[in-house]
Order: sequence, then C-alpha cells, then structure tokens
Amino acid sequence: MPEVFQAPKGTRDILPPESDRWQALVAVFADVFGRAGYGLVQNPMFEDIGVFQRLGEGTEVVRKEMYDFFDKGDRHMALRPEGTASVVRAFNQHRPTVPWKVWYLTPCFRYEEPQAGRFRQHHQVGAEAIGSADPDLDVEVIALQHDFYRALGLSQLSLRLNSMGSPGDRQAYAGELAAWLGQRLGDLDEADRTNATDHPLRVLDSKRERTMAAVADAPFIIDCLSDEAGTHFERVQAGLNALGVDYEIDPYLVRGLDYYTHSTWEFVAGALTSAQNAVGGGGRYDGLAESLGGKPAPGVGFGAGIERILLAADAEDALAEASGAVDVFVVDVTGGDAGRDLTFELRRNGISADRSFDARSMKAQMKVADRSGARLALLVGEDEVAAGTVTLRDLRSGGGQFALRRADVVPEVAQRLAKG
Ligand code: HAM
Repeated sequence: MPEVFQAPKGTRDILPPESDRWQALVAVFADVFGRAGYGLVQNPMFEDIGVFQRLGEGTEVVRKEMYDFFDKGDRHMALRPEGTASVVRAFNQHRPTVPWKVWYLTPCFRYEEPQAGRFRQHHQVGAEAIGSADPDLDVEVIALQHDFYRALGLSQLSLRLNSMGSPGDRQAYAGELAAWLGQRLGDLDEADRTNATDHPLRVLDSKRERTMAAVADAPFIIDCLSDEAGTHFERVQAGLNALGVDYEIDPYLVRGLDYYTHSTWEFVAGALTSAQNAVGGGGRYDGLAESLGGKPAPGVGFGAGIERILLAADAEDALAEASGAVDVFVVDVTGGDAGRDLTFELRRNGISADRSFDARSMKAQMKVADRSGARLALLVGEDEVAAGTVTLRDLRSGGGQFALRRADVVPEVAQRLAKG
C-alpha cells in the first residue's frame, strides 16, 4: 500500500466548516479596511531572498527561519516570511500615489518549532500605509485594527504600545543597551549572551526567566527619545485616547523585526494562556523603502495571525461557526435529470441548493438531506414526474409536505425562505 501522505510538520489543512470562519474573518477585515480607503494587494509568495534579508540580520525570521531555495535558473529565492517587505518592494517598483493604503491576506512561512499557535505556515491579514510620516496614520492603522477585532466580537484583547524612536534614536539606544548588557553578561541566560553584543534589542524580547529578571531595570528607549520622536509618540497616544482605543505603554516591546521606527505595538489575547498570545502586531518602518533600494518613503502597518485570532475567538466564544448549510436539498429518484435541472434553476435564482449524486435510494438521499442542515427538501419521484409536480418537505417543522406545480417551485421556495 502506498503511504498516506500527511500535511508537512507545522502546517494544517483548513477544511469546512472551519474554513467558513476564515471566510467570515476575512470578509470583516476587507469591510473594515475597504471602508477606510484601503485596497487589496496581492504579491508573489516568493521573492529574491534579498528582499527579505533587508528586514535585518537581527531578525530571527531572517537569520534562522527562512524557507529559501535556488530555482532552476539558479536564482536564490525565499518564500515570504511576512507581508511587509513584498508590499514595500511593490511600492518601490510601481510608485503609486501616496499615501498608498493597502491590505492583504497571505500565507507566511517560517521554519519555527511548531507549538500551540505557532506554525511553519501561518496566515496573516494585514494592512500597510506608505508614503506619509503623519502620526495620525499610525493612529488610523491601530484604531482600524482595533475595530476589526471588535467587529469579530473579541473583547479580551489588550494593546501594548511602545516607540522605537527615530532611526538615530534607535541606533543610539542599541549602543547604550549593548554597553549596559555588556556589564551584566553573567546575569543573562547563556542563550541570550551572543545577542547582547550582536543584537541587543532582542535581549529585551527574551522570554527566558533569568534574562527577564536581569533586564528589569535596563534603560528604556522611550526614556531617550529625540524631541521629534517624542512629539510623534505623544500625537499617537492623543489620537488613540480620542478614539477610545485603550492601550498600555510597554517599554520592553521591541518586536521581532528590525525595521521598526517610532510606533510599535502588539494586540495580545488575554483569553490565550499560551506564550503565543499575540494576535497581531505592527509598527512604523520609515527606513524600509530606502533599504530596499527605493526613494525614502515612511510607512506604517501591521499583520495579524488568522490562526491565533481564531484560537482567541474560540476561547471567548466569539465568531460562531457559520452553518455553511444550503437552504434547499433536492432529492431525485428518477435518474438525476430533474434533480440536476431543478438544483441549477434554484441556484440561478439566488437560492442556495445542493443535491445528492450516484442515483441513491430515496432513504439514502433523505438521510443526506437531513444531515445537510437544509431547511427545505424538494422531492422528485416517478409520481411527481408523471403529474408535473415536485413535493416540498419542510425539514425543520416535523416533516409537513405538499405538492407544488413544477413552474411554481422557485417562487414558492423563495417566498418560504424569505418568511424565515
Ligand atoms: P509579526 O509580529 O512577525 O509581524 O507577525 C504578525 C502576527 O502574525 C503575529 O502577531 C501573530 O499573530 C502571527 N504570527 C507570526 N508568526 C506566527 C506563527 N509562526 N504561527 C502563527 N501565527 C504567527 C509581521 O509579520 C510584520 N510584517 C507586521 C507588520 C506589518 N509590521 C508592519 N507592517
């Protein structure tokens, strides 16, 4: 017997009815961002590896987790580990008018150690606004992300906010932090010691207890912001306050990607106990367009993990599973012609309908009809064909049924469904 293949480690098949919830989630996202002037952008799943390498060598996603390969033309490519780099690459390439406001839905590939809420292929909905340094754009993106979660029915989320300052602030701070850490190397968990000199900001992110205790009184970047960055950060906070978006300042929040300047944030699900409780994060990345070879263009955006949002929704009993059921199930025991034609007539008149296949018995077909969750069944047997009728059975109200003339089926069904 050939082996039954399984989905690769760290990946999942998303099947109905779970996929109905995905669809609902994406529809809410498209609605919230579409109404705010964001258009859908679709990028390739893979890029020249350089596009992602510019995300920075301090980024684990780039250093350790990239799915890279050489194609048949010997080009070094990688599957996208996140959405922002490709969007900015597309911005540089196409030079759209600014601010360029876009949203996306994309799989992301990271060679991580799988665990609850952490996959090797996960999926993000995200938005980016490129070409303006206005702090009100940070506010817009954060508040829309907040409204998206709200529209899904999630209420137990908290927003953590920090500022990485201007690129100059960030660099100066990294130096100061490296010096501070350098004097306390012995206090850090061994696994964090190399980062302390090479990528000091990563150390603040560490979830290792020994390191966390050691950095409890480390200098914070928000205490060393330049005037320009301080003013930006204040305007962001004022905007969030005005729009009723609650947040807490988290000076340890440095995020896992190196491109951030000014605002950075993460929405965290209180209902998720696992370490993987960030349901979306983002920030400003004013130097990224330039580092990808384009003209300077500030930008801001976020990505939100669909799998984690659904886990949070489960924990909060939000975003109920859609039934996915059709309204009408057609049962035909006369060979299938009548069933085929009737099903399509219903569908073409805007009524959701399904049927069974393989010319099964009345009993077998009725079982499928019951299981389908449909409200109405339409039955076609030899008697009905001879009389030019169809039998309508209400599957929800104890099986009452009556005959309809064939020509009256669609209007009668439509009327019944409209009555609810
Ligand atoms: P990120 O924080 O790496 O940011 O990922 C965004 C979100 O994707 C996370 O908050 C989480 O919900 C989800 N996520 C990340 N990794 C995994 C994983 N292995 N399994 C399941 N879910 C995961 C970014 O990707 C940036 N591009 C966000 C951004 C956009 N910043 C500016 N614009």
